[in-house]
Amino acid sequence: MEINSLFKELLPKIEQRLDTLIPDNGEKYSAAKKAMRYSLLSGGKRIRPVLLLEFYKLCGGEGENALNFAAATEMIHTYSLIHDDLPCMDNDDMRRGKPSCHKAFGEDTALLAGDALLTLAFSSAAKTEKIPADRVLRAISLLADNAGIDGMVGGQVMDLEFEKTGAEPDELKEMYLKKTSCLLKAAAVCGCVLAGADDEYIKYACEYADSLGLAFQIIDDILDCTADEKTLGKPIGSDEKNGKTTFVTLYGIDGARKKAAQLSENAENLLDNFEGDSTALKELTKYLLNRRY
Ligand code: IPE
Ligand code: IPE
Ligand code: MG
Ligand code: MG
Ligand code: MG
Repeated sequence: MEINSLFKELLPKIEQRLDTLIPDNGEKYSAAKKAMRYSLLSGGKRIRPVLLLEFYKLCGGEGENALNFAAATEMIHTYSLIHDDLPCMDNDDMRRGKPSCHKAFGEDTALLAGDALLTLAFSSAAKTEKIPADRVLRAISLLADNAGIDGMVGGQVMDLEFEKTGAEPDELKEMYLKKTSCLLKAAAVCGCVLAGADDEYIKYACEYADSLGLAFQIIDDILDCTADEKTLGKPIGSDEKNGKTTFVTLYGIDGARKKAAQLSENAENLLDNFEGDSTALKELTKYLLNRRY
């Protein structure tokens, strides 16, 4: 399947579900709800929900039963971006082509909007219907573990620490596996679990997402130095401004690009272990390596 047809099929469903899960009923005290909708419904590539839905399909899942769960991964991702942009973290003023949440709503409201997106994610995932409850429970637990202190949040902690100390190559890799791969892994693996996949496939999905996530973050590092702000939708030079060690500072742009290409190829090869048709996921993997934003 062409990558454009994949997006054309899935993105409208994802956008619509996100919109339904956070209705703005015009409540009096709804600044944080407006901020949640502002950040959540403001574009973004929607890679995590797409991954979840594609792995669900690859492992034999049918219909739209996993959409709430897919939306949940995007809510957690969006909350992580709102907090990542705050002055106490990366202090970035633009996100997805618009002022960051705290620039538009203030730091206090942005903080609470992030908190509320995180809890709404689990409330939405728990409302998954027509999938056996034991699978949903296992997937919720995996999502929580990969998003939390031993996953994405843990990676963000390391990121802040390394601003002060610098990082060795192995430490940087460990940090990327947590801050970026873990949420992609939650998406891929929850797709498999919700479809009732065997543990063997779950293991391949984990390995795929680890590799994909490393490549994804390396490309993010490269774009931080080479893209233009309008195309990227977020500030250029954020990493340098914050004194971050990145794959670009360690290996240069060409060296970093080579590593990303190897990791992406490795990810693609792992998809051959699945019995179903993984063409769309392979296309997605290539698309993410060659992306411009
Ligand atoms: C940005 O993620 C943060 C990283 C983990 C590198 P994305 O590049 O998926 O951001 P959106 O969702 O498309 O805005
Ligand atoms: C972000 O890494 C990882 C998250 C978990 C949010 P970055 O800080 O490099 O992401 P961008 O470049 O701000 O999107
Ligand atoms: Mg950051
Ligand atoms: Mg950042
Ligand atoms: Mg970045």
